[in-house]
Amino acid sequence: MRSIQVLKGNVVYAQKRTELTCVENGYIVTKNGVIEGVFKVLPGEYRGVRVEDYGDKLIIPSFCDMHLHAPQFAMLGMGMDLELIEWLNKYTFKTEARFADTAYARRVYRMFADALIKKGTTRVAVYSSVHRESTHVLMEELERAGVTGYVGKVNMDRNCSDDTRETTEESLLETRRFLEECKGRYKHLTPILTPRFTPSCSNELMAGLGKLQREYGVRVQSHLSENRQEVEWVKALHPDSEYYYETYEKYGLWIENTIMAHCVYSGERERAAMKEAGVVVAHCPDSNMNIASGFAPVRRMLEEGLNVVLGTDIAGGALLSMRDSATSAVRTSKIRWLLSDKKEDFLTVAEAFYLATSAGQAYFGAGPGFQAGDALHALVLDDSRLPETRPLTLEERLERLMYFSSDDTIAARYSEGELR
Ligand code: GUN
Ligand code: FE
Repeated sequence: MRSIQVLKGNVVYAQKRTELTCVENGYIVTKNGVIEGVFKVLPGEYRGVRVEDYGDKLIIPSFCDMHLHAPQFAMLGMGMDLELIEWLNKYTFKTEARFADTAYARRVYRMFADALIKKGTTRVAVYSSVHRESTHVLMEELERAGVTGYVGKVNMDRNCSDDTRETTEESLLETRRFLEECKGRYKHLTPILTPRFTPSCSNELMAGLGKLQREYGVRVQSHLSENRQEVEWVKALHPDSEYYYETYEKYGLWIENTIMAHCVYSGERERAAMKEAGVVVAHCPDSNMNIASGFAPVRRMLEEGLNVVLGTDIAGGALLSMRDSATSAVRTSKIRWLLSDKKEDFLTVAEAFYLATSAGQAYFGAGPGFQAGDALHALVLDDSRLPETRPLTLEERLERLMYFSSDDTIAARYSEGELR
């Protein structure tokens, strides 16, 4: 019976994008950390099992941050008066170069992993730097803290700084070695191929990564159509490609479950290609505002049936909490709504909550919200110290807790069924 765990509280989750499921004073039963079910009344077979009673608190799925750069945690809040390319050259590459030093990496990644858990993020798709050894340091620290997901060693063999540039051969050899070393080494972390973006990867490197993808069957993450200057640059680098996405497609990197961050300037054709291939869009609204990239057409993407998830894009984004990413997505969509003469609907808070939880969960093979058979990833939210008001519905309380995103409203965190 020790493997059975029962949590009691107000269970709130999103089974569909447009609808919240609320189970007042409900129960989540897990066995060996895996969800057995969500119940209004505790089934008789669990009688006598100790209940972890969270009283009037909310229990929600923990958050999935589907695009962020771990080394950039060290430069969070810097260079925000620059646009992408200058920001990379003046701040980012300099910061990432320091991760050649594994002791420095240990210090920063320990703080980073602890901060993620504190903010309620238990699943990620994260970039490291070009350094293989420090990427393992990142994975060790994530695993220690209880953060699960995909981790990529970055590939760059051109258009970066001298101290971050790899030779093409070195980049491919180090990536192969990284993939080999990850075999059986981590419980809940998986390597993912991470060509930084087309400008920083030669055609030869892209082709080599495509080969590695086929050999190892690994997933891929990169950046796409984030900034106007970047899009023009890619056109100049690949005169044979009409669209940015083709620069990934021609090397076999535009495949099912490839995560493409931003997609602010992805037009109809590029978006159709995403749908066709099963490419996932990581929308990073706070980053898109900070480095003034633009406003991604998320409402359109959703209506077209694209798979959209959310990311903080630390440190283009400066907000580590996925609650802030979700509300930023709502705010950004309202700018598009206003600019479209109120024709392009904005996102509701419930939709943004779905994107920050269930949509991300799907990438890890989990069902939406709390589904039987999935490992428990959950947060217990406490609004008892927020200002008193009239009695609120669970929907209203969730909305307030999404906007009121201070850490002390998270009372407990579960990752892979374990209290963290
Ligand atoms: N494109 C290529 N590299 C990066 C990065 O580190 N951050 C963002 N926002 N965009 C990129
Ligand atoms: Fe990014």
